Amino acid sequence: MGRVQARVEAALERVLPKADIVPARLHSAMRYAVLGGGKRVRPLLVHAAGEAALAQPGQVSLARLDAVSCAVELMHAYSLVHDDLPCMDDDVLRRGKPTVHVEYDEPTAMLVGDALQAAAFHILAEERLAEPADQLEMVRTLAAAAGSRGMVGGQAIDLASVGRTLSLPELELMHIHKTGALIRASVALGARAAAPMPEAELAGLDRYARAIGLAFQVVDDILDAESTTATLGKTAGKDAADNKPTYVKALGRSDAKKLAEELRAEAHAALAPLGERGVRLIELADFIVLRKF
Ligand code: IPE
Ligand code: IPE
Ligand code: MG
Ligand code: MG
Ligand code: MG
Repeated sequence: MGRVQARVEAALERVLPKADIVPARLHSAMRYAVLGGGKRVRPLLVHAAGEAALAQPGQVSLARLDAVSCAVELMHAYSLVHDDLPCMDDDVLRRGKPTVHVEYDEPTAMLVGDALQAAAFHILAEERLAEPADQLEMVRTLAAAAGSRGMVGGQAIDLASVGRTLSLPELELMHIHKTGALIRASVALGARAAAPMPEAELAGLDRYARAIGLAFQVVDDILDAESTTATLGKTAGKDAADNKPTYVKALGRSDAKKLAEELRAEAHAALAPLGERGVRLIELADFIVLRKF
């Protein structure tokens, strides 16, 4: 994981415009938002899915997976910058640093998000990452995951739900959109950029991705309630303070943890047909559920 994280860090550094390129303040803020922080879970999923897609290890084009990783991580970083804005979650701390609108200003943070989203698509379209028809499908996959039927749709449900008590199906719908969609896309894109997969294996991979996508946000809710600001690098206890609907509120901590464990087991089971090729994905499911930050 450390090796992939280092590769992706270097790739992100390369794809972002240098901070002295005009408009320098915007480019500086984009780099501030993306570089030097974050667990890079989505890039790790891209690489692990790419490895899982290959029948023989060692044939994977790491450069392709790096490009796909940059696309999903830039999309994710944009979603965090906008999520933290005063008109959304109004957070002052992210990845252990002041949020972009605090360090720079609100209009800059808005534009950083806009530009990072465009940059994500730019990267997916720029180089040859798969057969042309497959690459077009990859662009479509990212667009669908990010848009109103995906992440942004989930964020809209989140904002509309403040102070309301959601039913469990409503809560699940919100979480699989706001967080699950981009995680699911990361897995699908990594696999597609690496090699064609038999239909049954793809279905297993997608079942895995859906389970960990939901688990990721369930654990995010638990950590918000249980961890500290210093450990998380973002303000702890914010969900309860803001009256957000979360799995902790809906189920209580103990049952929320049970759900995360059930989803981890489901993710493991979904990968069974892949055998050894699924090892890294299994490790990532464990990391997503057992993480402390
Ligand atoms: C936080 O995502 C926001 C959610 C979607 C829950 P991460 O926990 O992946 O944040 P970073 O990238 O590591 O900072
Ligand atoms: C954010 O969910 C999901 C996104 C699409 C960014 P949260 O609002 O719970 O994420 P954090 O806790 O601020 O990272
Ligand atoms: Mg939010
Ligand atoms: Mg938030
Ligand atoms: Mg949260």
